[in-house]
Amino acid sequence: MALYSEVVMDHFRNPRNVGVIEDADGIGEAGNPICGDIMKIYLKIDDGIVTDVKFETFGCGSAIASSSMATEMIKGKPLADALQLTNKGVTEALEGLPAHKLHCSVLAEEAIKMAVKDYYDKNGIPYDKSDFPEPEEASCPHSSPNA
Ligand code: FES
Repeated sequence: MALYSEVVMDHFRNPRNVGVIEDADGIGEAGNPICGDIMKIYLKIDDGIVTDVKFETFGCGSAIASSSMATEMIKGKPLADALQLTNKGVTEALEGLPAHKLHCSVLAEEAIKMAVKDYYDKNGIPYDKSDFPEPEEASCPHSSPNA
């Protein structure tokens, strides 16, 4: 079986929603301290709906495919749905990632959450802090000194 699904390869080769939204309503960034990969998400929000979303990812192919899929999954959806997005959901939509690449999809979940939080903070909208847990120290096996 191929290491990467057709869906992963498609989103890696033709990533959707790449770029920057200059007048974004919320911006979120997540990084993996071990491999150094960084993902940035820009949200345009209108009346509680994600009307546009773009991403910039400086990272591996799985991180790019995860960002592309995650942005497609939240575009046009209510903010509450965007907050529900999990790395598991992104991975399932990608028809799987190799076990040692699962952490790459975590960046997408974290960056989206941070962008929603940024929007709430900028607009003085109250929120439940438990919806925004501190990012975990993700591990990136490729970059570990012992790999
Ligand atoms: Fe670190 Fe993919 S995010 S290798």
